[in-house]
Amino acid sequence: MPDTLLIIEDEALLGSELARFFRKRNWDVTLARDLKEAEQYLCQQSIDPLVVLSDMNLPDGNALDFLEAIKPKIGSSEWVFATGYGSVADSVRAVRLGAYDFIEKPCDPERLNLLIEGAGRSARAQRRLQQQTEAENSRYSLDALIGNSLVTNNLRQMIKQMANVPFSSLIISGETGTGKGLIARILHYTGSRAQAPLIEINCAALPRELLESELFGYEAGAFTGAKKRHRGLFEQAHTGTLFLDEIGEMDLDLQTKLLKAVEDLRIRRLGSETEIAIDVQIIAATNLDLLQKVEQGQFRSDLYHRLNVMSLRVPSLKERKQDLEQLVPLFIADSNRKSAKNVRHISQQAWEMIKNYNWPGNIRELSNVLERCVLLAHDEQLPEQWLQLNNPPPNTNHFNPNNGIFLPLDGSLSLQDIEKYVIQEVLNRTDENVTAAARMLGTTRETLRYRVQKYNLRCKP
Ligand SMILES: Nc1ncnc2c1ncn2[C@@H]1O[C@H](COP(=O)(O)OP(=O)(O)OP(=O)(O)O)[C@@H](O)[C@H]1O
Ligand SMILES: [Mg+2]
Repeated sequence: MPDTLLIIEDEALLGSELARFFRKRNWDVTLARDLKEAEQYLCQQSIDPLVVLSDMNLPDGNALDFLEAIKPKIGSSEWVFATGYGSVADSVRAVRLGAYDFIEKPCDPERLNLLIEGAGRSARAQRRLQQQTEAENSRYSLDALIGNSLVTNNLRQMIKQMANVPFSSLIISGETGTGKGLIARILHYTGSRAQAPLIEINCAALPRELLESELFGYEAGAFTGAKKRHRGLFEQAHTGTLFLDEIGEMDLDLQTKLLKAVEDLRIRRLGSETEIAIDVQIIAATNLDLLQKVEQGQFRSDLYHRLNVMSLRVPSLKERKQDLEQLVPLFIADSNRKSAKNVRHISQQAWEMIKNYNWPGNIRELSNVLERCVLLAHDEQLPEQWLQLNNPPPNTNHFNPNNGIFLPLDGSLSLQDIEKYVIQEVLNRTDENVTAAARMLGTTRETLRYRVQKYNLRCKP
């Protein structure tokens, strides 16, 4: 598709000559005879010229005033001005307004052509850069958190609110693979610190000494092997965000140092006497129950309360299975792209297997399972034999089930699963007799029948 060139020229003959000249050189030319007409093309008809070639003085005004007024309303274009009597003052102003170049009338067509070609290249490069930056920002926009369930909509709303307040610290908790890392990035990139760095560290990945020197930095000679001065992560995150992943794994002694840094907003590099002021926002993530760790004496209570100024619990995937409808096609499309496959159909049976599974590894597990299926697909059908999803049976090992039911409270069953499981068990024991089952469950036959239907269970009519 040819690129668009807008020519603003009031001399009719020159205008149509220029238009013909550039059409021959594969430009899609629009000709405006004055600024009003140019504005109509740009604003009402939304033409998006790569280059604008404009006369300087037009019957209804000066083209520089026009450029200044219209620039914020239009996409990025390069502007070239042709003028019979170019003045220095005009050219200085044109440069300040970001014009590409000037050319004096009458202009040599080949020179003008080179100029317009150059302006086109420059505008194209600018647009590419703009697209890249937009892509980076939108990668971690709120929309990156996929899912339309009520739970996820609420979560998105909370993230939006939190990103808009200047919090000093926040704890994100949730099971593994629920999206804590993704949410930390969204909070940073949609918040007021988005232009400053986001520095991430996994507290479980490093031994205590190394984690300390990474966080606080060191001076040359602070310990064996410290050859050069090293700026720590706190300093690197200055004015931005420090993301402490798996904070629950941090050594108690190091927690003390962290607390001091967070409270004083000052740190000292290892081996240094001088304190450095730091301005960082802390996001900590954990898949452990921190409060329980506090009770067990494995996490400092004061640090917990200092970091827990705000907290966000990310629900597990089994609490928001409705999101599967958006997540599954998304991950299949991603995997298609990566492996040059074209999986487009998901059978009813595959959907049921996906929906009935409890996803202990959450969204990460879902993405991995779908990637495996796409890789092993032969055609457009998602191969359900490669889903390999089996919920572990409830653990009933150490229980005599004669007059009760054992229910694992390890998160493997949702409330609904528990209800369904209890009803199923009682029906098994009453030989599917609803009256007897209702008595055992202390409910009415009607209520039980309704639930039997809801969970698609079997009972005697
Ligand atoms: N709602 C979501 N929409 C789209 N992608 C998601 C969503 N939640 C998580 N993901 C993706 O799933 C993967 C796992 O998420 P992430 O690494 O953020 O989980 P986590 O909670 O930090 O896990 P861990 O506790 O193991 O570190 C990532 O690739 C992430 O981009
Ligand atoms: Mg993570």
